[in-house]
Amino acid sequence: MVGAVDKHLALIGFMGAGKTTLGRELARLTARPFIDTDEEIEKRFGPIGELFERGEPEFRRIEEQVVAEALAGPIAVIALGGGAVLSDETWKRLRRSAFVAWVTVDVDTAWARVRDSGRPLARDREQFGRLFDERAARYEVLAQGTGQDTRAVLLESLHIIFSSEIACDAAVVADERVASLHELPTAGGVTLTTHLVPAGEQAKTPVVVERLWNELGVGRDGWIIGFGGGSTTDVAGFTAATFLRGLHWVAVPTTLVGMVDAAIGGKTGVNTGKGKNLVGAFHFPWEIRIDSRFLATLPAEERRAGMAEVVKTGLLSGDELWSLPEDEMIRSCAAFKTAVVLSDPYEREGRRAILNLGHTFAHALETASGYELRHGDAVALGLLAALRLSGRSTDVVEEILAPEPVRVDRDRAWDALLRDKKGRLRLVLLGDDGGFVTEVPEADVRRALDELIAD
Ligand SMILES: NC(=O)c1ccc[n+]([C@@H]2O[C@H](COP(=O)([O-])OP(=O)(O)OC[C@H]3O[C@@H](n4cnc5c(N)ncnc54)[C@H](O)[C@@H]3O)[C@@H](O)[C@H]2O)c1
Ligand SMILES: [Zn+2]
Repeated sequence: MVGAVDKHLALIGFMGAGKTTLGRELARLTARPFIDTDEEIEKRFGPIGELFERGEPEFRRIEEQVVAEALAGPIAVIALGGGAVLSDETWKRLRRSAFVAWVTVDVDTAWARVRDSGRPLARDREQFGRLFDERAARYEVLAQGTGQDTRAVLLESLHIIFSSEIACDAAVVADERVASLHELPTAGGVTLTTHLVPAGEQAKTPVVVERLWNELGVGRDGWIIGFGGGSTTDVAGFTAATFLRGLHWVAVPTTLVGMVDAAIGGKTGVNTGKGKNLVGAFHFPWEIRIDSRFLATLPAEERRAGMAEVVKTGLLSGDELWSLPEDEMIRSCAAFKTAVVLSDPYEREGRRAILNLGHTFAHALETASGYELRHGDAVALGLLAALRLSGRSTDVVEEILAPEPVRVDRDRAWDALLRDKKGRLRLVLLGDDGGFVTEVPEADVRRALDELIAD
């Protein structure tokens, strides 16, 4: 499994790094339980200072047992004591069942935070410094990611990397327009063979996938790279999921939609004659390589479509992500989506469904327009409806996205919405604590939909 999907998110690092605070916040964002092994030890065995007086080996034995129990339990965020990774058994267990993130800190900050805490190993500055160096060497080997804040740890936990440089031999599935505008940077003399697919949505068909199956020259240990917008990464990922029963793949998104949404979260697939995304698979990319320089050539209407997903993400996270500088905006949106995905990777428990804020209306309008309406523009309208039904201000959507009512057939849109919902009108609405799924009376939904349609 990739990163922290289906695994614990374990935080290691020196005392004073802030693992407990960070862990608690990560647990809230990913809707996972939080376990702080030091707290757990104190709850069950008494103050750590007293346990240490009985000798460090005794304390380490208890610690090893508490960590083993946490790792054997339900998927969680686990903050480990600074010395927990000294145990080889703990090390092996972490390797098996956790994504290990090293919460870094500099030695002076750590010392300032813990010098007066009475911790047994924080009584002497010199000894503290030596321990810091020793432990750092161990953390470095064990860690699969590093970070000092929730956003950095989240991005690492799905292998979202801010560089587009490729360092493995791979077959590149590229949007033909993107391939005519950009080249993928490579490192270390790797060979990339390129397979062009039609620009945008036209690539998302079973015919294109079959052609790729026949063309690909890679073996079981080969890599596929999807290079383009959400359409390309969806089809490349689906090809990777199916070819030779599944190959590793890397997503290199080139649209704003791709960077903040489509490339993240493992959903891959194609459209059929009956509708969008009807055939697909969950197949998480091994890495998502984001390079905002690709956006320089993105047409304005595609950028606007991306901003609709950014506004959606900001509304759900409760932060004005749309006003951040571009790189910050992309990082923050990607991290928020990562947290939601980690809370419910396969959309089984309803939590991932909150990412569909505004999308029930959007899909209905897209269908009624015969897919003439761009997804992002439909989402902008859908957000208006969702906010109105939530009794919240629509100012942000009007200011940033300025959606205009569309000219589509009202009954056709309504039928499409009912079909999408299979009769049960459960929608994502926005509350003070973010998105939630709830049943909404049919008449209210119909009225909200009608308001999005021009006469
Ligand atoms: N898998 C998921 O979780 C997920 C989430 C959201 C959307 N999607 C899918 O993503 C698709 C939409 O993706 P999209 O909005 O990224 O657009 P897209 O991939 O359809 O591309 C849109 C257009 O932009 C062009 N383009 C892409 N990058 C460019 C660049 N850097 N410069 C110039 N032109 C560029 C393409 O050639 C195309 O013409 C839909 O099929 C949707 O279903 C998937
Ligand atoms: Zn969307």
